[in-house]
Amino acid sequence: MAATDKGCDVGLIGLGVMGRNLAYNMADHGYSVAGYDRDGKQAKELVGGAGRRQTVRATASLDEFVGRLRGPRTVILLVPAGDAVDRVIEALSPHLEPGDLIIDSGNSRYGDTDRRGGTLATKGFLFMGMGISGGERGARYGASLMPGGPWEAYERVRPILEAIAARVDGEPCVAYLGPGSVGHYVKMVHNGIEYGLMELIAETYDLMKRGLGLSPEELRYVYHRWHQGELNSYLLEITLRILARRDEGSGNPLVDMILDKAGQKGTGEWTAEDALELEVPTPTIDAAVMMRNLSARKREREAAARVLDGNPAVFSGDRQGLIDCLRNALFAGFIITFAQGMALMREASRAHGYGLNLGEVARVWQGGCIIRAKMLRDIRAAYQTEAELADILLNPDLGGEVLRRREDLRQVVCAAGDMGLPAPALAVSLAYFDAYRSGWLPANLIQAQRDFFGAHTYERVDGPGVFHTEWDQA
Ligand code: 6PG
Repeated sequence: MAATDKGCDVGLIGLGVMGRNLAYNMADHGYSVAGYDRDGKQAKELVGGAGRRQTVRATASLDEFVGRLRGPRTVILLVPAGDAVDRVIEALSPHLEPGDLIIDSGNSRYGDTDRRGGTLATKGFLFMGMGISGGERGARYGASLMPGGPWEAYERVRPILEAIAARVDGEPCVAYLGPGSVGHYVKMVHNGIEYGLMELIAETYDLMKRGLGLSPEELRYVYHRWHQGELNSYLLEITLRILARRDEGSGNPLVDMILDKAGQKGTGEWTAEDALELEVPTPTIDAAVMMRNLSARKREREAAARVLDGNPAVFSGDRQGLIDCLRNALFAGFIITFAQGMALMREASRAHGYGLNLGEVARVWQGGCIIRAKMLRDIRAAYQTEAELADILLNPDLGGEVLRRREDLRQVVCAAGDMGLPAPALAVSLAYFDAYRSGWLPANLIQAQRDFFGAHTYERVDGPGVFHTEWDQA
């Protein structure tokens, strides 16, 4: 495949950290790569870092870049989501020929991917939207890849994608997910779940830090134990490593020197918005987005803390008991968050005609990506047992895990409430679970209220039909 004299196998546009590492990963697997970045410095850096690899070339000239690719060409974009993608496609297209393939690997919004795919198809180009997760290390040594688009396009790049993907039990963490924008949809939901899991971990951290007064060393010990078991996951692993790091200047734990204002690029919010649109409840993910937004209002919170008596109480009960409950609460919260994400993708697949295989999504997420976790093996197995599973909570193993931990989750939510410590993701995870497994909800009263003030009608429990009551008449 590494035939640079016949033209490079693949072209990469955008030679920042992700692009560069992906190029080296491809080269390590025997592929020849042409890189383009309009910033000549980036192009030089790519070649400089390539060492003795003769199969990595780079240029700041688009003409030269396209000329280096063998046809039919494959060009992977690693540019920031948004207008930049449109600008690059606009500049690139005149240099391409029908049958050439463009793969957008940024965190693009799925609606944009559908639009771009439609426009490019009219020009005879193939277009794929592919989510990549795993950050810099994933790009370099094996990422989780979520491609969607025309099947023939996937078949063309399948060998290279399988080569650069992370591997779990010998299987590459990549699969053809379906047509259109499905790759970016799945990546969006991946990020929504990422937000949910991160918020759940942060809440356990807060309850142990402020509620129990644990030091970073003690926290590290607790998370280390959790990570050894059923909660084993990349996000816990990095949490451990974060807690171990000291600030060079002050000698304090670095995490204590970091301002409590979370940033976001939007994918979590998109997930929450889309879930609302499709009427799929994703409250844990919504709470995570809400908490990032609230965290960003640092000044306002500080002012409010002064006037609204913002000092939480310290926990006075069984400390080890609460730590044990927190472990179980976190595990239950993780499963519930995955359940919400999976339910959203199930509905989106129906709405957008993606034909998604959710077991394959769970498999692709088992390695390389930010939300990789031991429990994904069980989630995958649940879909292997029942491909059309309506909700992973209905799988006896996964639902059973939550059911066994529900009282611990309840204890944690009560303790957080008692102390005045915010734990909305844990709290709504519990409420969601309790509501989901409730055959009756108080929506009868809501229907009556709607009918009272707006004659919106209601159905009855004792037979079919649509009814209205003149509520004002005695
Ligand atoms: C990944 C990450 C990656 C990125 C997020 C961060 O899967 O590798 O999800 O895509 O780090 O976009 O998102 P926020 O900036 O919104 O936290």
